[in-house]
Amino acid sequence: MAKEILRVEKLNKFYAKQQILYDVDFSIAQGEVLALLGPSGSGKSTLIRCLNGLEEFSTGDLFFDGQKMVPTEKNWQQIRQKIGMVFQSYDLFSNLTVLENIVLGPIKVQKKSRSQAVQIATRLLKRVGLADYLQTYPRQLSGGQKQRIAIVRALALHPEVMLFDEVTASLDPEMVRGVLEIIKELSEKDNMTMIIVTHEMNFAEQIADRVLFLEDGHILENTPSKQFFVNSQTERAREFLESMKF
Ligand SMILES: Nc1ncnc2c1ncn2[C@@H]1O[C@H](COP(=O)(O)OP(=O)(O)O)[C@@H](O)[C@H]1O
Ligand SMILES: [Mg+2]
Repeated sequence: MAKEILRVEKLNKFYAKQQILYDVDFSIAQGEVLALLGPSGSGKSTLIRCLNGLEEFSTGDLFFDGQKMVPTEKNWQQIRQKIGMVFQSYDLFSNLTVLENIVLGPIKVQKKSRSQAVQIATRLLKRVGLADYLQTYPRQLSGGQKQRIAIVRALALHPEVMLFDEVTASLDPEMVRGVLEIIKELSEKDNMTMIIVTHEMNFAEQIADRVLFLEDGHILENTPSKQFFVNSQTERAREFLESMKF
């Protein structure tokens, strides 16, 4: 059994009086890929934002490497270096070159030397096919290129877990594949532990070991993906999968 890297216990989240997440429980083992699926508004983004402190949760516990996380700002800063996140909107700094966007974290947060950080950035950019874009500004890039840079920026901190929140949702169709291929390679070559929110069901089926199916803030299924896509346990999950076909 691979070691458990992240565990969530009885996580509840409210916005004002409205409850968004209900007693969410799950864990993820080293190298495992979890697809977090569910209808729009079911709480997927809120849940993964709670995992790296972008959202406060109301009650519940988070364990990282078996250690209970005490939610202080200092602890979150450490956790954020271990849990990288990429969003739908690649929020690159528009006034900085690709290189400067990537080296910022390693230098500022991890106190790496500039030459070390540049080396990391160069290696990762080569890997995603963007070695020639070090001095380019984000506005000169396509959406797909920007999203690959956003992935590189997160990887430059050497995270143990990566969270992807609909990273291809705002891309032109022809850009989607390149980004998904990078994510797939991270799983296959690097054995990266990942939680992926996506509307690309074929991709989810190919890449995920397990599916968490969320509806109205409840986890309705936590199922091996082979089973989920062929024979979901709940009627709601079957309806959801049906609605994703077009
Ligand atoms: N900042 C916020 N303030 C209040 N309600 C929010 C906020 N962000 C999200 N919500 C609500 O939380 C619920 C879950 O949203 P979200 O996590 O974005 O779902 P999903 O990512 O599955 O589409 C929705 O009802 C949404 O309206
Ligand atoms: Mg969302």
